[in-house]
Amino acid sequence: MTEDATPERLLAGELWWKAGVVYQVYPRSFQDTNGDGVGDLKGVTARLDYLAWLGVDAVWLSPVCRSPMADYGYDVSDYCDIDPLFGTLADFDVLVAEAHRRRLRVIMDFVPNHTSEEHPWFREARASRDNPKRDWYIWRDPAPDGGPPNNWISNFGGPAWTLDPATGQYYYHAFLREQPDLNWRNPEVRRAMLDVLRFWLDRGVDGFRVDVIWHLMKDESLRDNPVNPDYRPGEPEINSLVQLHSADQPEVMQVIAEMRAVLEEYDARVLIGEIYLPLERLVAYYGVDLSGAHLPFNFQLIQTPWHAESVARLIADYEAALPAGGWPNWVLGNHDQPRIAARVGDAQARVAAVLLLTLRGTPTLYYGDEIGLSRVPIPPERLRDPWEHNEPGRGRDPERTPMQWAPGPQAGFSTVEPWLPLDPQAQTRNVEVLRDDPASILTLHRRLIALRRDHPALSIGAYRAISASGDVLVYERLHGDEVVRVALNFGHEACHVPVPGEAAWEVMLSSAGGRRGEGSQDGRFALAGDEALMLIRRAPAANG
Ligand code: NOJ
Repeated sequence: MTEDATPERLLAGELWWKAGVVYQVYPRSFQDTNGDGVGDLKGVTARLDYLAWLGVDAVWLSPVCRSPMADYGYDVSDYCDIDPLFGTLADFDVLVAEAHRRRLRVIMDFVPNHTSEEHPWFREARASRDNPKRDWYIWRDPAPDGGPPNNWISNFGGPAWTLDPATGQYYYHAFLREQPDLNWRNPEVRRAMLDVLRFWLDRGVDGFRVDVIWHLMKDESLRDNPVNPDYRPGEPEINSLVQLHSADQPEVMQVIAEMRAVLEEYDARVLIGEIYLPLERLVAYYGVDLSGAHLPFNFQLIQTPWHAESVARLIADYEAALPAGGWPNWVLGNHDQPRIAARVGDAQARVAAVLLLTLRGTPTLYYGDEIGLSRVPIPPERLRDPWEHNEPGRGRDPERTPMQWAPGPQAGFSTVEPWLPLDPQAQTRNVEVLRDDPASILTLHRRLIALRRDHPALSIGAYRAISASGDVLVYERLHGDEVVRVALNFGHEACHVPVPGEAAWEVMLSSAGGRRGEGSQDGRFALAGDEALMLIRRAPAANG
């Protein structure tokens, strides 16, 4: 990163995905415009002004392609069309054009590991053993006892193999039986799927978030996975085996490099990979000489205990593990994970927002987190997620509920009862109520994003660890002469944060609102329980 780089310049050019903030939209739950209780593309377009007001730089849309919706769009039956539930290709083109008009980028979800069982490729493949598409999927004869070919388990629980009685073989599915895995060892599959990328790139999308990218290649001889000696009952069943042979195979790097090469045929596009792996494996997905994903999603904050010291260790380990030139990124939540406010509570959700938006690297913000959405209770008869049906308690519905825009019926999301219930606090927890409240969590997010844009130290600057003791984590972001010190109180007790004596510091932002411009007293700042402070070192007065 050169010294004369500014966030503005970076956002306008090649490296927008470094300086920018990504915002994830779960389209089913963002804005319904046709009164069916499910969000749609016209709804996303209608809310672009809000996203521009919030200040984010890119919108990642969870899947909108044609799908029978067994896994809510992560089971695609046509990669080159929009599901009628969400609208049409024409609606999509309008969305992209309107986003670009507001200098917002659009990132699509690409689901290459598996198709829907209703995809024409799979229908052909299952028609007969000698169908030309048979090898596009992973088929094996039954084990000698008639059971599945190996011991692999579905990520949603139960066996990962389903017998096709008509042809007498099993097919492999890492997720639902309705989601057969593609065989990425077959060159025709590769060609067809890379063409899907081109189809959307030609329509103007700015990049992809690639679903379960580390799953694409499996062990060629499909060896059994070893039993996990650390498995504890109550964990998801998938954890009972170590995923040694079913994912994260060396050959996957070549596939990712091929996807990346397709993006390189176009200007300034980004490749983001969904990867749940320990740090040392995660960073391998930057690829040899950074030929892999630009941003292998870093979910470590979701998995690390919410304590100052654990988070400090995580940041240090991640920074140390990054390959030279590899750009970091951070995520606090998504459509598969309990919401951050549900995990750490309303007060700490503000501290978390400051953390996410001041760490070095591209932040991804999950829709609704900016209004403090928490775990929405779902009555049993309204549960939708198939995972919940397979493994009760694992369902992801509570983090997929509708966005809340305004007080009144259906919180401005729809004119009818939405597909998932609203938060019981929707009358007060919504954009309209929170946007003009200077102390709201929404105002906090907007200010944080604006500060990132205005201060190169925050968007592109270096990271320096200062301290982590007790409940308080302190670090700095630096660029040129600019130094921003961030102090996060992970606990409920008030305390003080010292600042070096030789310079004057002032408050840039407090997560509680107010305090802006406040100076230090006796070389330190008061820090309330559950408060995060950002302090900026005042430029030394010019001599003479
Ligand atoms: C990861 C997605 O984020 C999740 O929602 C989905 O169920 C699985 N991949 C299967 O596609």
